[in-house]
Amino acid sequence: MSTGKAAALLALGAAALLLLRAEQRSDSTWTQTEALGAAGRALLCAIGGVALLAALWLYRLLWCPLELRRAPEDVGYVPEAGRTRAQAANDVRRRRKAGDLPPVYPNGWYRVLDSHMLRRGEVKGVSALGEQLAVFRGQDGASYVVESYCPHLGANLAVGGRVVGGCIECPFHGWQFQGKGGKCVRIPYADKVPEFATVRCWPSCEVNGQILIWFHCDGGEPQWAVPEQQEITEGRWVYRGRTEHFINAHIEEIPENAADISHLAHLHTPGFASGVDLRFTNSKTWEFLRHDWKVRWEPESEPNKHCSQMFVKHALTVFGFHWPLLDVHVVARQVGPGVVFLRFDHRFLGRGVIMHCVTPVEPLLQLVSHTMFYQANIPSVVPKFILRIECVQFERDVMIWNNKKYVSQPLLVKEDAAILRHRRWFSQFYSENSPRLRHQRRSLDF
Ligand code: FES
Ligand SMILES: [Fe+2]
Repeated sequence: MSTGKAAALLALGAAALLLLRAEQRSDSTWTQTEALGAAGRALLCAIGGVALLAALWLYRLLWCPLELRRAPEDVGYVPEAGRTRAQAANDVRRRRKAGDLPPVYPNGWYRVLDSHMLRRGEVKGVSALGEQLAVFRGQDGASYVVESYCPHLGANLAVGGRVVGGCIECPFHGWQFQGKGGKCVRIPYADKVPEFATVRCWPSCEVNGQILIWFHCDGGEPQWAVPEQQEITEGRWVYRGRTEHFINAHIEEIPENAADISHLAHLHTPGFASGVDLRFTNSKTWEFLRHDWKVRWEPESEPNKHCSQMFVKHALTVFGFHWPLLDVHVVARQVGPGVVFLRFDHRFLGRGVIMHCVTPVEPLLQLVSHTMFYQANIPSVVPKFILRIECVQFERDVMIWNNKKYVSQPLLVKEDAAILRHRRWFSQFYSENSPRLRHQRRSLDF
C-alpha cells in the first residue's frame, strides 16, 4: 500500500473515531459541537483529517528519505494532441535516428541495486546490459549476481527462485546454484551433479550502500575497484534518498555532459522554479532566479586514468543579487563509464555525496539513479532539497537526451574543446569486442 493510501486510511480512521467520541462524550464542548448537528461534526472530522494528513506530510518531509522514481515516459517527451506521453515516448524511440554510435556497453562497474533494496534471503530480477540478472542476498548477508536463466531448462531464477544458504534454488526442478562461482551443488532427483552444471556468475561488489556488477566484453576481471566513501561506511553520512530515471540515449551522452561546459549557461541557468520542460524554462515569470556556473573538466592520470573530475562552482542570483551564502562547490568524480560521486561541501549546509549511476538496460536505454548520503546531523530536509534541485536540472538534460541523435563528428568551436577530450578519455572503456548496435531492437515498450 502506498504511503498516500495509508495516510488517507489513517485520516478516515481518525475521523471515524472522532465521530464515535462525539457521540459518546457529554461534556460541554462536545455538547456544543453536537448542537451544531451533522454539519458541525463533519467539519470537525474534516479538520481532524486535514490536520492528520498535514502531520504525516510534515513527518515525511522531515524524517523520511526522498524516493522519486520516474516512469520511462514521465520526463522529456512532448506529446502531440490526442497522444499520451507513453505513445509519444514510443514514437520517439521508433523514429529515432541513432547516428553513428560507439559500442553500446562500455567495460566497467554498473550499479544494479541499492543495498537496502535487497533483504537477507531475497532475490530480485534486474535488466542490465541486455541481460536478465538474478540478484540475491544469501542467509550470510552477502549479495550475489547470477544470470537469471537456469542452465537446466531455462526457468527464471528471479521469478519464484528461493535463497538457500548462499545458493539460489531454481523454481522449476529445484536445482541449487552457489552464488559464489555459480556451481550447481544439488539436484534433488539426481545421484550425481555434473561438473559442468553451473550458472553464469557476474563479478560483483557491495560498497557505499550499493550493489554493482563488473562488465567486460571479453569476460576480463575487474580493472579497478569502486572507491569506498569512508563517511558512508563509518555511518557519518546517512541515506537521504534517491531518484531514478530512464534515459532514451546512448550511455556516453550522459557523462559527456560534464565536459560540455557551454550547455550549462544555456540549459541550466534558468532558476529551478521554472521547471524542466524546455519549452517553458525561459519564461519571464521566473527570470528573477538564476543559476550561475563555473565549470572545469579534467581527466586523471595513471594509475587513475579511468577517472575524471568536474569542478563546479555554483552561485544563485535573485533579482540580480548574488547570495554568497548559497554558493555551492561540487567535485564530481567519474569512476569508469557508469559511476560518478558528486561530493558537496558547504559552510552551513554541510557535506554529503550524490552517487550518480548509469546502467544500460538496452543499447539505447539507460537507468540513471542518484542516491544521496549526507551528514547525519544535518536535517534531512536540506539534502532532500539539494537532491530535488539537482533532479530539476537533470531532467532538463533528459529532455535533450531523449530526443537527440548521437553525432560522431560534431561541429564544434574551440570553446567546446573539452568535449573531444572527453570522447578520447571515454574511448578507453571500449575494446575490440565491445558489443555494437547492428540494428535497433526494441524490446521494451513504455
Ligand atoms: S529449469 Fe531450473 S532446475 Fe530445471
Ligand atoms: Fe546538463
